Amino acid sequence: MSQTVKDYIRTIADFPHEGIMFRDVTTLFADARGFRMAIDQMLHPYAGERIDKVVGLEARGFILGGAIAHQLSTGFVPIRKKGKLPGPVISEAYALEYGEAVMEVHDDALKPGERVLIVDDLLATGGTAEAGIKLCRRMGAEVIGCAFVIDLPDLGGNAKLQALGMPVHVLCSFEGD
Ligand code: PRP
Ligand code: MG
Repeated sequence: MSQTVKDYIRTIADFPHEGIMFRDVTTLFADARGFRMAIDQMLHPYAGERIDKVVGLEARGFILGGAIAHQLSTGFVPIRKKGKLPGPVISEAYALEYGEAVMEVHDDALKPGERVLIVDDLLATGGTAEAGIKLCRRMGAEVIGCAFVIDLPDLGGNAKLQALGMPVHVLCSFEGD
């Protein structure tokens, strides 16, 4: 039987803490067919749509976003964790399991009216993606969708983004395990 994207993802138990089943995409990225399949499937819903920029969320969203931007012949914009970008930034805080974190983007990275696609490897609580959406919208860009390799629907991020009116595209999901 032919392999699906999900088949290339390795699960590592008890990382980074006991009780967490870590979904490891390095095994997907390392496989020539797996990586191409993932990029092709992430792009599939947007065929024929105008996309001006691809926005990737640190860190694994950079790997996917670079390949997707190249495929679409668009530019790529990184949204990074606090303190990593050299120029003037805008920031958004988001909740973590314990405490909060901050994502940043260069304040001139997107122009008003630009249509952007946000990409990342995994959608869990949706906090990271929501911060990314807010940053893009603060620059006046239109987020036409968010694409992820993996959805963890038990953690509610997919429902949260849909409630914000954001079209969400995922390639596979892990639930109840
Ligand atoms: C992971 C994952 C997503 C985010 C999803 O990144 O790669 O970016 O968490 O979680 P959320 O939907 O609950 O916000 P992480 O913050 O571990 O950092 P990294 O990608 O830089 O390793
Ligand atoms: Mg991440």
